[in-house]
Amino acid sequence: MGKILVTGGTGYIGSHTVVELIKNGYDPVIVDNLCNSKIEVLNRLETICGVRPKFYQISVQDKEAMRQVFEENEIDAIIHFAGLKSVGESVLYPEKYYSNNVGSSKVLLELMDEYRVHNIVFSSSATVYGVPERMPIVESDPIGNCSSPYGDTKYQIELLLMDYAKTHEDANVAILRYFNPIGAHPSGLIGEYPTGIPNNLMPYITQVAVGTLECLTVFGGDYDTRDGSCIRDYIHVCDLAEGHVYALHKLETKPGLVIYNLGTGRGTTVLELVHAFEEANNMKINYKVGARRDGDVPENYANCDKAYKEMGWKATRTIKDACRDSWNWQSKNPHGYDK
Ligand code: NAD
Ligand code: UD1
Repeated sequence: MGKILVTGGTGYIGSHTVVELIKNGYDPVIVDNLCNSKIEVLNRLETICGVRPKFYQISVQDKEAMRQVFEENEIDAIIHFAGLKSVGESVLYPEKYYSNNVGSSKVLLELMDEYRVHNIVFSSSATVYGVPERMPIVESDPIGNCSSPYGDTKYQIELLLMDYAKTHEDANVAILRYFNPIGAHPSGLIGEYPTGIPNNLMPYITQVAVGTLECLTVFGGDYDTRDGSCIRDYIHVCDLAEGHVYALHKLETKPGLVIYNLGTGRGTTVLELVHAFEEANNMKINYKVGARRDGDVPENYANCDKAYKEMGWKATRTIKDACRDSWNWQSKNPHGYDK
């Protein structure tokens, strides 16, 4: 495999994966409509990689425009990151989430058929497990019953891919269920910068650290956990990016459908993450413990043995590495990709 279509390739996880792809000799072709990322990412990728990836500014939902991409490039595999990911927004505008997330996946599968592309890696999420029955979560645990339309779109796309794999003998499909990505490329040139006030924990912490926000509220201090705050499985985005290269290697063995959790297998509390950030960067984070956030589960972490057994992949970076790299990115880019 050589040429990889990376949808959503200028986004947070996509851009880090493009770096890994180039490092491993692949030739990524990025499609992104820039609805949640910046064109500046391409300059940064060129600085890191020494080559500028080919880029199309189009929506994956636009089948005619996408057909052009398939005409102009002999695609061997697709990594499908493109999608909307704000849980809160999905509750307000579910139809926007269904049409963008499920709609773009449908377009890709139709074009895979038309252009005989057999391989696809899909960005799913731990959110498909809904309220998990046990910890750590294994891939065979029940999915569905998601807590938001965003989660429902990931679940629907998984079902679509599973049916596609069943009905297409030549298809190789890797569904990757990410846990909580944090961190940034060690160069500090690419990273996460959400628009508006961040919903996710790490960008909130870094924006308090840089002075954009005043105080972090820890959502709930009375959970039945070791320090009362929620437990999540935070994975360094570079480990996650590497997981996609392993997934492509796995698809080369023509496995049909495979599903993997990508996390670290270790749970970290909100307070532990705050303190790890303070230690790694030798600074204090202004925080207070507040009320629980609706929809949060007390703990959520992965069993990642399957990804290691079947692909040889495991996360190698520590929480401290991620805290250092998140701050390196944020402090060098206080306004993200804007000047
Ligand atoms: P991101 O928003 O940074 O990247 C997604 C990219 O897709 C953006 O650049 C956006 O402009 C683009 N995009 C959206 N709709 C598009 C469309 N119709 N056509 C073309 N481009 C489009 O998000 P991310 O954090 O990099 O997430 C990547 C994928 O991983 C998403 O599918 C997300 O749902 C999934 N995921 C993310 C997390 C997380 O915590 N970040 C966790 C689990 C799963
Ligand atoms: C959230 C989404 C999930 C999505 C994931 C990655 C919800 C309910 N879930 O997961 O669907 O896949 O993001 O995008 O929104 N926290 C604070 N203070 C803050 C922010 C967060 O204490 O200001 C806590 C949360 O309560 C949680 C932990 O930090 O315990 C992580 O939160 P977050 O980064 O939003 O991720 P998830 O809730 O795991």
